[in-house]
Amino acid sequence: MSKHVRAVVLAAGKGTRMNSVRPKVLHELCGRPMLWFVLRALHEAGVDDVTVVTNSDVAPHVEAIARLAGHAASSAVLQEPQLGTGHAVQIALAHLEPREGTILVLNGDMPLIEVDLVRSAMARAGNALALVTARMPLPSSFGRIVRRGEHVQKIVEARDADEDELLIDEMNAGLYAYDESKLRSAIAELRNENSQGEYYLTDTIGNFRERSETIVPVVAGDYRSVLGVNDRIELAAASALLRARICEHYMRKGVTLVDPQSTYLEPGLDIAADVTILPNTAIGRGSSIGAHSEIGPNARLQNARIGEHVTICDSVVIDSAIGDLAIVGPYAHVRGGAEIGTAVRLGNFVEVKGSTLAPGVKANHLAYVGDSTVGERTNIGAGTITANFNGKVKNRTTIGKDVSIGSNTTIVAPVTIGDGALTGAGTVVLRDVPAGDRVVGNPAKTLGKKTP
Ligand code: UD1
Ligand code: MG
Repeated sequence: MSKHVRAVVLAAGKGTRMNSVRPKVLHELCGRPMLWFVLRALHEAGVDDVTVVTNSDVAPHVEAIARLAGHAASSAVLQEPQLGTGHAVQIALAHLEPREGTILVLNGDMPLIEVDLVRSAMARAGNALALVTARMPLPSSFGRIVRRGEHVQKIVEARDADEDELLIDEMNAGLYAYDESKLRSAIAELRNENSQGEYYLTDTIGNFRERSETIVPVVAGDYRSVLGVNDRIELAAASALLRARICEHYMRKGVTLVDPQSTYLEPGLDIAADVTILPNTAIGRGSSIGAHSEIGPNARLQNARIGEHVTICDSVVIDSAIGDLAIVGPYAHVRGGAEIGTAVRLGNFVEVKGSTLAPGVKANHLAYVGDSTVGERTNIGAGTITANFNGKVKNRTTIGKDVSIGSNTTIVAPVTIGDGALTGAGTVVLRDVPAGDRVVGNPAKTLGKKTP
């Protein structure tokens, strides 16, 4: 059934209440734009024929967001100017070839939506309208569901509601499963006689009622899954709920979160069972973590591939990989495509950028290792700097295996230090050092071969 269902997502609103240059549906929660969550729920429900109603600020982003949400393709239609949710649907329908069957309409500002609710609405499709509603604590800015007996009579926007209507605690969620041809005829008759001077999609309900069409209310089990985000306060509230939901997902999969309240995880991470995440830790952008690793406290991982039995505390890892058994931190910054080998130790104010560190390398104190390749078991002493930038270009440093880099060595790239070499404290290396050589001074001079 689902393959015949298509959907329209309303995402063209100005989002005035956000007070932002960024369009509302592009504001992020848990590392994803608001619109992603709506598109994701549709994709999970098997609805891939989706038209997003956008404005010119949102339009350039729709394709990427739709793909990230799992849709093979996306279709966007511009609504300019934005004259209300009913007008947005008019624009979408004008763009779509008429078809018999169900058409879902969803607000783009309901990031807490879950696939089950989309499925519940679809299960009641076949009527003129399956209307998702939710009982909610008052006060609320949602549109009120006015019923007579069991029957839905109309929806009154909070702004247009009288005192009695404002006491109604059943709300319009912003998720509708319409019979398409009935929607087409109702949408043509909308008027903008309301406090906003807008065409309200919700007025189709009154229209259906006058024509004795069947409106089936589908009451959401948990109002929190339909909370709309209209301002930054609602954005923070929705983020907190989403964050808790995402944390629960990983905990169910076997990840220990010592303090979910201060753990910030994105959807879609690959975290193995028996990983422990300590407080105040943020992990995002498709990172992965192998079993038995311990991340945090105070860690930030972005696009990080972390092996098994790794320890990372008080550190930042971005766009990099960390091998099994490595210990990173406290206070390390690993970034820019760094590849950190098995059992490497990095910490106490060490920055590694765009470098490959072979297994067993140690850089334990106050160092910068940039654009370098470092061989197995090499020790980088405190205060070592690879001077990789000459003011114009970045140059590479190659350090062999079993090398001892003395404290406060400055390595001026491009340069190669051979296997088993040693630099004394305070050495400034300007030229290549042959394997096994001991060098000291500024500029480095050889003292001959290292005694084995
Ligand atoms: C809307 C509903 C309200 C419901 C609430 C649920 C209407 C008239 N009201 O109110 O009954 O309780 O959602 O969250 O529908 N949009 C467009 N084009 C426009 C205007 C809006 O695409 O011209 C989009 C917005 O980007 C947004 C969605 O439609 O994603 C809803 O618009 P919004 O202004 O947030 O409506 P609410 O006041 O929240
Ligand atoms: Mg809204």
